[in-house]
Order: sequence, then structure tokens, then C-alpha cells
Amino acid sequence: MLKIENLIPLPVFIAPTHNEFRLDAAAQIFIAPATTDTLRVANFLADDLRQLTGYAWSIVAEPTGRSHNGIILSLHADPSLGDEGYELNIASDGILLRAAKPAGLFYGIQTLRQLVVGAPETSAQTATTWRVPTGSIRDTPRFVWRGAMLDVARHFFKVEDVKRYIDWLARYKLNRLHLHLTDDQGWRIEIQAWPKLTAIGGSSGVNGKNSGYYTQDEYRALVQYAAERFITLVPEIDTPGHTNAALASYAELNCDGVARELYNGIEVGFSSLCLDQEITYQFLDDVIRELAAMTPGAYLHLGGDEAHATDKGAYIQFIERLETIVRKHGKRMVGWEEIAQAKIPAQTIVQIWRGDHAAAAAQSDVGVILSPAKHAYLDMQYNEQSPLGLHWAGYVEVQDAYNWEPATLLPDIPERNILGIEAPLWSETLLTLDDIAYMTFPRLTAIAEIGWSPQAARNWDSYRKRVAAHGAQWAQMGIPFYRSPQIDWP
Ligand code: ACM
Repeated sequence: MLKIENLIPLPVFIAPTHNEFRLDAAAQIFIAPATTDTLRVANFLADDLRQLTGYAWSIVAEPTGRSHNGIILSLHADPSLGDEGYELNIASDGILLRAAKPAGLFYGIQTLRQLVVGAPETSAQTATTWRVPTGSIRDTPRFVWRGAMLDVARHFFKVEDVKRYIDWLARYKLNRLHLHLTDDQGWRIEIQAWPKLTAIGGSSGVNGKNSGYYTQDEYRALVQYAAERFITLVPEIDTPGHTNAALASYAELNCDGVARELYNGIEVGFSSLCLDQEITYQFLDDVIRELAAMTPGAYLHLGGDEAHATDKGAYIQFIERLETIVRKHGKRMVGWEEIAQAKIPAQTIVQIWRGDHAAAAAQSDVGVILSPAKHAYLDMQYNEQSPLGLHWAGYVEVQDAYNWEPATLLPDIPERNILGIEAPLWSETLLTLDDIAYMTFPRLTAIAEIGWSPQAARNWDSYRKRVAAHGAQWAQMGIPFYRSPQIDWP
């Protein structure tokens, strides 16, 4: 049983009452009111608890009063909980979870789920009682954008692996999955108007490993799986640099009309779309149209980083034109911070990774996402001995990932412009889901807490104690996390 004080991210308000609620084989889930939304989150909880406990977990509409054996999910709640907040009361005779919106119920369920799992005496399926610590929680997130990015371009990861990653994001209340779908080493999303992008550009990967791509149906399945977990998928087509896979697929996208060779190294900054040919814009219009059509979320990420092989003036004009194409297809453009050099309208979102263009982003008064490489890049090695990862931004131990404050990170960026934070995971050195897990835990949980919990409540000593308790859960879940020497693991 995880102590109520050990939750990650730390809730805004917790009052433990030092008792326990026992889940047993007759326990039920009650929904109030019974709607498709409440049924959907109840089903999610029921499936999860069935797997964990082996009990039936029937779902019952409209409780008449407080249940004496079960979990009530109620949308009759204080509207000040907002879109994502929840109130959870765990008493020895039942659990009441209230939220104003379904997403809030979902996050309350994640809190509950952390508390149920991890009882040392509860080896799955064999336990006869499952206990939850009692207490009250009231909780709302600090930021609206709580993201993670997965690079499926350098090495491709199959749909099932991405679904596991989505599961991990959901458990820690993250709500954006940014998929880096294209780069020099691979093009990973089917575009029907340009089939050679995947036929040729999807056939490579770093060192010739993990090639592949998602069909549009597979991509839609990921969108759906994420949406069921209140996660918005944000697809990225990196432009005008990081485009060798496209340039290898179609000769006509190159200024000299000659197709590039496929690339399986890890250098950056050598490729560029040809910006003074109309076919480039026809290509982008087709890609953005198809991507917009299969992406219900509001955002399309168009990259814009490290365009070292592109003329600066041409780059600026390109970004401005690109933004109009994204807007024409009904979406908001997201780009890496270099795009702040262009004139971009207020609905554009700038993702900071180095900080060099923070002042320009502030001047444009756009929303920003903070992904400072020295703190939030999950692909940085933990230390000199780390078997995976790179270190161009430094080594990022768990304390480095945890100990930073978005509002004071960059003097140019005031808190009102910060939409939130995001932890990118670039995959040059990663081949398997286990590799991903090792780089992700225990750093993604640090980033999740920065995104959700009030700054005043956060501190490293508390985090390092709580994360140790989560290590036991990760071990039970078979997640091969990094056993950082900064944490006293049990
Ligand atoms: C980046 O790391 N090139 C955004």
C-alpha cells in the first residue's frame, strides 16, 4: 500500500486519516450521473482493477447515497475544480471521487490507482484483500500542457510500445504526447499523396535498426488510445531541416533535383527542404492536410529546429508561410524555439529547448512550452557511466530533472506565457521499450510533478523519498528503471 503522502505528482491538498479501506470481491463502482463519459472512465477503472485484483468490479448507475462497499465516481462537484481537478475522499466504508469534468475523474482514478498498487503483501491475483489508505485529497494542476515527446524517427517504435508509453504518461497525469514522426533517419507516418515517403523514407533508421512507419489506421488507433486516457497527441513533421528521409524519397524536393541517400548516422543540421520551389509547398500542404484530417487535437508541430543548412532570411519567410498552411487546415502551429525569429501570430506555440530565442518568443507574446535540455531531456545520460543516451547538454541526474522552476527558468518568459512543460526523449541510442523505460524513470515523474504540483509544495527531499516508494511499484510492473544513487531505494 502506497502511503497517501507518497503520491506523485504531489496533490495540492492532502489530509491523511490513518485508516484503510478494504477492496473485496463484492466491491462495485457507482457512477453519478450515468452518462457515456462517466461510464467511459468507470470502465477504465474497472478494467484496471479487474486486472489487478481479479474481482468482477461491476458498474452500477446512480447511487442513492454513500456506498458501503465501493467507489463512487460523481460529476456532481464544485465547478472551481475546473477541467482537470478532482476531490477524493477515501473512508474506511467507501471511496467518493468527485470532479466537475470527466478528465478530473480520470486524474482522481490515477491517484487512487497509485494508492492501491504496491502493497508488499498484494502479489497480483493471490491477495484476498486490497487496501487503500484513507484521507482526503483536493487537487488541480498547475499547467494545462503537461507533455512528453517520443522520437520515433531515429529509431522506430511499434504501436504496442507507444501504447505502453501512453500508459506511463497517464499514470502520472500527463496530458500531451508529442510524437516526433520525421527526421533525417526516417519518415514514420503514411501520407497517401506521397507514398514513397514511407516506402523509401520509412525503410531506414540509425545504424540500420528499427525501421518502419505507422499506417494512417495505426496512427488513428494511437490517437484513440491516447484520447481514452485524456492525452492529446501532437504530431511533429520536422521542417525545413531534419528532412533527409523526405529528400531521399522524392528527388523533386531537392533544389538540384537529385534524391539524397538514406541516412543512418546521428549528425544534425545538414538537410533542408528546397524553399524556393512551389512543389515544396504543395508537398507540405498535402502532408499537413492529411495529418490534420487524422488528428483531432488542436496542434500540429512543424519542427523548425537546427535549420543550419537553410538560409536565415529564407527560413523566416518559410516559417511564416508554413504557419498560414497549418492555420488554413484548422490547426495551431507548434514549433521549436527557432521559429520565434519569424513573425508568428499569437496562437502559435513555441517550444523552448535551449533558451536562445526566449526573448523573441516573449516579444511575440506567444504561449511557450518549456523543455530545457539541461533538465527535461530524458535522453541525456544520467552520468558518465550511463550505458544509454547522449550528453551534449550535460548529464541530467534525477535531482537536475526535478530541481527547476518554470516561472524563473528564463527571465524573459513570464509565467503568464507558460502553457506548461514537456520532457522530450530522443532515440538515437534507444532500441527497445526497456531502453525507453530506463531513461524515463525516475525523471519523467519529476517533470510530471513540475507540471502538476504547486511550486511552493515541491522540494527535492520530499520527492526523493516519494520516488523510492514508486520504485517498488515500477519493479512490480516490470519497468527496468534507473536506480539512481541519489535515491534510497528500499
Ligand atoms: C532539438 O533538440 N533539436 C529540438
